[in-house]
Amino acid sequence: MTRIVYVNGDYMPEGDAKISIFDRGFLMADGVYEVTTVIDGKLIDFEGHFTRLERSLGELDIANPMDRDAWLEVHRQLVGQNAVDQGMIYLQVTRGAPGDRDFVFPDPDTTAPTVVLFTQSNPALVDSPKAKKGIKVVTIDDLRWGRRDIKTVQLLYPSMGKMMAIKQGADDAWMVQDGAITEGTSNNAYIIKDGKIVTRALSNDILHGITRAAVLRFAREAQMQVEERNFTVEEAKSADEAFVTSASTFVMPVVSIDGTELGTGTPGPLATRLREIYIEESRKAAI
Ligand code: PDD
Repeated sequence: MTRIVYVNGDYMPEGDAKISIFDRGFLMADGVYEVTTVIDGKLIDFEGHFTRLERSLGELDIANPMDRDAWLEVHRQLVGQNAVDQGMIYLQVTRGAPGDRDFVFPDPDTTAPTVVLFTQSNPALVDSPKAKKGIKVVTIDDLRWGRRDIKTVQLLYPSMGKMMAIKQGADDAWMVQDGAITEGTSNNAYIIKDGKIVTRALSNDILHGITRAAVLRFAREAQMQVEERNFTVEEAKSADEAFVTSASTFVMPVVSIDGTELGTGTPGPLATRLREIYIEESRKAAI
């Protein structure tokens, strides 16, 4: 089945989709994105992703090209047309293609944002083999820019970080700034010590994860203790459990950090429980 994608108002087979070479997303990474999960053909936390998209666009002075209902319609069309049961929808909005390369932003009255959406199916999303084993992480310096709260498409360093991890036989990297973990290359990072969940507080240093917000809410509702504060690499290595969260991994247990095994080296009970709660509650609330 040919995948149907969305480009600037039109649905088309992926092979027909075209973007200008002058697009500022291509030339300058001048754009933002969102990844929304699909389970049972329904959208998980659409409102959260839409709200963050509006914020990211606002921070970069890019006008939101569509209202909430129009965004929802495109998401639903793509899920339907591509018969996605489990997977995700990727959306990207760039400042558009002014027709030349220039550091100065183009006039928004003459250069419209570029909008692209596509789906990726992943039937093993909920029943993930990785979640049963847990993942290994290594720590690397956080060399990203200072506005990580904006979900921009500047993903070169996170991508390099993932490769550094893979070269060391691990699955992912946790980034470190001034001795404290900021987040994973494409997820938020947590440790658990003596039953207490610790994760970095929200600031410009990390992406304000939509999954993070939901998981912390569910954890508090389940009477688990949550502390939002910095934690060091040493603290992380001596934790009982650890995990990461993102739209594409939900709650993913971490079983080793820089080669140091946590607990028994298998997914911990609280992380495993949180994953179950997250999937169950998200399924119920999906639209
Ligand atoms: N990444 N931190 C970073 C740096 C991220 O890239 C992501 C998401 C998160 C988690 O955010 P959320 O819970 O809203 O997905 C945290 C997406 C999934 C990606 O780039 O594919």
